[in-house]
Amino acid sequence: MTQLFDLSGRTALVTGSARGIGLALAEGLASAGARVILNGTRAETVAGAVEALNAKGFDASGRAFDVTDENAVADAFAKWDEAGVAIDIVINNAGIQFRKPLVELELSDWQRVIDTNLTSAFIVSKQAAKRMIARGTGGKIVNIGSLTSEAARATVGPYTAAKGGIKMLTRAMSAEWAASNIQANAIGPGYILTDMNKPLVENATFDAWVKSSNPSQRWGKPEELVGTAVFLSSAASSYVNGQIIYVDGGWLAVL
Ligand SMILES: NC(=O)c1ccc[n+]([C@@H]2O[C@H](COP(=O)([O-])OP(=O)(O)OC[C@H]3O[C@@H](n4cnc5c(N)ncnc54)[C@H](OP(=O)(O)O)[C@@H]3O)[C@@H](O)[C@H]2O)c1
Repeated sequence: MTQLFDLSGRTALVTGSARGIGLALAEGLASAGARVILNGTRAETVAGAVEALNAKGFDASGRAFDVTDENAVADAFAKWDEAGVAIDIVINNAGIQFRKPLVELELSDWQRVIDTNLTSAFIVSKQAAKRMIARGTGGKIVNIGSLTSEAARATVGPYTAAKGGIKMLTRAMSAEWAASNIQANAIGPGYILTDMNKPLVENATFDAWVKSSNPSQRWGKPEELVGTAVFLSSAASSYVNGQIIYVDGGWLAVL
C-alpha cells in the first residue's frame, strides 16, 4: 500500500510555494519522498522556504520566477534541462485574489487575475508536458482550482472565471496527454486559512458566514490538502484523469 503513494525518486515543481497552500503541498510531497522545487516571485522568500524544508531533512531547491512570464518559465525549464533535472510532477498552485464588483473592475486587473490563476497553468504545464512526452516517462499535473471552479460569489468575477477555466483546462490536458501516461487532475480547496484569506478571517461577519455555511463549521488548514495532492501525484491515481476533487469540508455538498 505505501508503494502506491511513494514519491521516492520523483521531482516535483510546486509553483507559488514560498508560503500558504503551496508550501504545505511541497512539504507533503517531500514527506512522501519527492525532491521538491519551490517557486514564488521573490527570491528571498523562496530561499527562506527552501532553507526551512532542508532543515527538516527534506530535499528541496528553489527558483524564483513569475509564472505568467512565458520567457521566464521557458528559461527555468532550460536551466533544469542543463542541470539534468527532469520534472515528473507539477503542482500549478500560484494564484492571486482581487476583490471588486465587475462594473468597477479595470481590464488590467481582470487580465492580471486571469493570467496568474489560469494562463500560468497552461504556460508551466506546456513546458513540463512536452518534456514528459519526449522522455516517455509519463507524469502528473495537479492544478489548483477552488470552490469558484463550481460556484460563483460576488466581487470575485475574474478569479471565478479563471478557476472555472482551470477545471476545463484540466480536462483539455487529459484529452491530449492521457495517452502519454500523464494524469492531469485538479484540487478545489474550500476556505483555507492562508495569507490570501487574512482579511476575510479578520472580518467577523465573513468568518461567521464561512463557519455557518460549511457543514464542518470551520476553515480548512493547508495541510488538509496534502493527502489529495499526494494521491494525485502518485501511482495511486494512475487511472484518474481530468477530475477535480473538492477538499472543502462538505461546503459544495450543501450548497
Ligand atoms: N486560501 C484559500 O482559501 C484558497 C481556496 C481555494 C483555492 N486557493 C488557491 O490555492 C492557491 C494558493 O493559495 P494561498 O491561499 O496559499 O495563497 P497565498 O498564501 O497568497 O500564496 C500565494 C503564493 O503564490 C505565489 N505567487 C503569486 N503570484 C505568482 C506569480 N505570478 N508567479 C509565481 N508565484 C506567484 C506567491 O508568491 P510571492 O509572494 O513570491 O508572489 C505565494 O507563494 C491559489 O491558486 C489559490 O487561488 C486558495
